[in-house]
Amino acid sequence: MRSLLVLKRKNVLVAAASFLSAISTLPAQNTAPAGTKPNPAIQTPSTTREQAKQSSQSYPPALVESGNSAFQQHCAFCHGRDAEGGETGPDLTRSQLVTEDNGGDKIGPVVRNGRPDKGMPAFNLSDQDIRALVAFIHTQRAMAETRKGGRRGVDPSDLQTGNVEAGKAYFNGAGGCAKCHSPSGDLTGIASRYQGLQLEERMLYPRNAKSKVTVTPPSGQTISGELAYQDEFTIGLKDQGGQYHSWPVKNVKFTIDAPVEAHVDQLGKYTDADIHNLMAYLQTLKQGAAQ
Ligand code: HEC
Ligand code: HEC
Repeated sequence: MRSLLVLKRKNVLVAAASFLSAISTLPAQNTAPAGTKPNPAIQTPSTTREQAKQSSQSYPPALVESGNSAFQQHCAFCHGRDAEGGETGPDLTRSQLVTEDNGGDKIGPVVRNGRPDKGMPAFNLSDQDIRALVAFIHTQRAMAETRKGGRRGVDPSDLQTGNVEAGKAYFNGAGGCAKCHSPSGDLTGIASRYQGLQLEERMLYPRNAKSKVTVTPPSGQTISGELAYQDEFTIGLKDQGGQYHSWPVKNVKFTIDAPVEAHVDQLGKYTDADIHNLMAYLQTLKQGAAQ
């Protein structure tokens, strides 16, 4: 539910804000299975309780299957097709957080809020998608636990397998990259600034891009600036004078304009070949190279 807080659309945010205040007045019932500690901070309504019941690590095959396809679509480039780690994301089957996750209570917030400063994007996915992803990740973890060895590592030669011309065509065409970038403009020499996996990481998810946020506090006086902080509870910005302001999200309305979201949207569309071709192309953009 809190995913709504990272949505851009104002009307939804208003709904989310009133919804949040509604649930904060619910009695703090604990329906978690015996043996798990209640955590009032992550009490959420019935959907999560249903998940909690399923979290004894056996999930309906159809749910796992739909989680698999969502994972391949949104997560696999970074975390690997089997969730065992990829070129830029950690192995989720060995993650402490995943081990401690109970029906999505830990994984859900990470997926919804991301860790923008650490290369993990925020995803705006439905409850159903998150539930399916959680089922898939736990199933992968259970499988990895029962298996020994055979773990495949990152293969840097993957970065060399793409086709430059195909990458260029994708850049200018289907990928839509040329709408915002130019090989002779902002991306000139990009391959001299970043190499290999670092370049791939920048391409998949540029973490330093600044988002703009506009906040309307209860006083009604709107204020805009650079998004400086955001989690489930707090939104903060730096105004033009460089001054930091923050509010509890439940007290304000806000809209975020994040140009870099184009990159997150694109994550769901790339094939492996697209990525390898793009990498091949971007790696030709060296300082002083003729375009
Ligand atoms: C652009 C690359 C990228 C994509 C795409 C991505 N992740 Fe991540 N993810 C990361 C990185 C990098 C981290 C580690 C962040 C850190 O160091 O705290 C991470 C961390 C996580 C963690 C926390 C692991 C831990 O032990 O703390 C979870 C859970 C997770 N990702 C799930 C997902 C899911 C589910 C998806 C798809 C919906 C996804 N990620 C998509 C890069 C990515
Ligand atoms: C809607 C606009 C938009 C689209 C479309 C877009 N990007 Fe970006 N891209 C950005 C923004 C904004 C940044 C962050 C700028 C920065 O960090 O300097 C960025 C950053 C990057 C960077 C890192 C640049 C740097 O200097 O660190 C790379 C590489 C990149 N994009 C590649 C691509 C590729 C490849 C595509 C197409 C698949 C693409 N982008 C599509 C807006 C866009």
